[in-house]
Amino acid sequence: MKLIPLILMGCGGVGLQLIHHIVSCRSLHANKGVRLRVVGLCDSKSLLVASDVYSMELDDSILLEVCRVKSNGSSLVTLASSGEHQAYSGPEVMRKVIEIASLLGKSKGLTIADCSASSETIGVLNQVVDLGCCIVLANKRPLSSSLEDFDKIYGDPRRIRHESTVGAGLPVISSLNRILSSGDPVNRIIGSLSGTLGYVMSEVEDGKLFSEVVRTAKTLGYTEPDPRDDLSGMDVARKALILARLLGLRINLDSIKIESFYPEDMGPSVMPVNDFMKNGLPLLDKDIEDKIKRASSNGNALRYVCMIEDSRCEVGIRELPKESALGRLRGSDNVLEIYSRCYNQQPLVVQGAGAGNDTTAAGVLADILDMQDLFP
Ligand SMILES: NC(=O)c1ccc[n+]([C@@H]2O[C@H](COP(=O)([O-])OP(=O)(O)OC[C@H]3O[C@@H](n4cnc5c(N)ncnc54)[C@H](OP(=O)(O)O)[C@@H]3O)[C@@H](O)[C@H]2O)c1
Ligand SMILES: *[C@@H]1O[C@H](CO)[C@@H](O)[C@H](O)[C@H]1NC(C)=O
Repeated sequence: MKLIPLILMGCGGVGLQLIHHIVSCRSLHANKGVRLRVVGLCDSKSLLVASDVYSMELDDSILLEVCRVKSNGSSLVTLASSGEHQAYSGPEVMRKVIEIASLLGKSKGLTIADCSASSETIGVLNQVVDLGCCIVLANKRPLSSSLEDFDKIYGDPRRIRHESTVGAGLPVISSLNRILSSGDPVNRIIGSLSGTLGYVMSEVEDGKLFSEVVRTAKTLGYTEPDPRDDLSGMDVARKALILARLLGLRINLDSIKIESFYPEDMGPSVMPVNDFMKNGLPLLDKDIEDKIKRASSNGNALRYVCMIEDSRCEVGIRELPKESALGRLRGSDNVLEIYSRCYNQQPLVVQGAGAGNDTTAAGVLADILDMQDLFP
């Protein structure tokens, strides 16, 4: 049986679902001759590790206990240390992760999975690459911060997977990498990469008021707690930046033209969220309605997309042909159209659910297993 040691950073919606997948896939993995050994887990405050990372692991009963504690909103610290595992907090967390990475990185192919939503993990990731670890990311931050961090973390492309950073579990990154590694030049990517904004645009297209649609989306839990986090376009821009960098563009977030749905004077630092929902949003209705009408009279659909072409990378509202994959898009699916030499008239299209704890965690798990052939 091939053993795969793993440290998981982040025990939120995605991290906990990943734990569930790992536990429920035990016999499936055994049939494939592999076993995942979770040796450490951390949240924003603390780290839980097996007492001896060579011979022990956090067994399934502890893993399920972690799920219970974290779903109750408690911290990992509440799990007292025992003979089998220890808890660390504060600056000790990073030191301990590095220590385990130096023990199990080169020798055992330790995988570090980042399912946090934080920039604080970047420092650790930078260090563990030098220790021979494999990295799997659902967190977009490490690849959408500085170019220096990107280069470092992507130093050995065989040891990093990050499918869930764009389009959740959809095979966006792997499709793109396959095209690129065959020497087929990609000259244009256009995609709808926010389930929330996809939903909003298709409801508005059906004649509903923008403000009403956003309020409903918030009530249904489709948006972030402050919907401006979706409406600013920043999340889409981070995904666009990751795709652009894969195509070789040496750019940063601040060189992407980002169109926000709201003006600066309705921003989070100026207007409290309740005020925005009640008084800000309705002021935006007219403009969106006009844009929809104009698009429709041109025979087009209006979408919020990322566009990467030549050395340009933009994120914003665009008119697209109704009969294209993007134009046909309904609801919260993500869609990505890739144009290259081989896919020039008809693009390669990847489409499906682009969010959700389950699909995102499944993407992370598949990434972890995908790298294991590196280690005989
Ligand atoms: N959910 C989706 O549909 C989806 C889809 C695609 C990609 N993603 C990405 O997947 C990641 C996780 O999403 P989520 O919905 O699970 O987020 P979440 O529920 O907010 O969970 C984030 C977790 O990260 C932990 N954390 C924060 N800072 C940390 C640090 N410095 N070190 C280690 N852990 C830290 C948090 O700890 P506490 O528990 O102590 O707060 C929490 O457990 C995000 O980057 C998100 O963008 C999510
Ligand atoms: C994802 O998990 C979080 C935390 O467990 C939960 O609050 C949220 O409702 C889940 N999201 C979905 C779409 O199931």
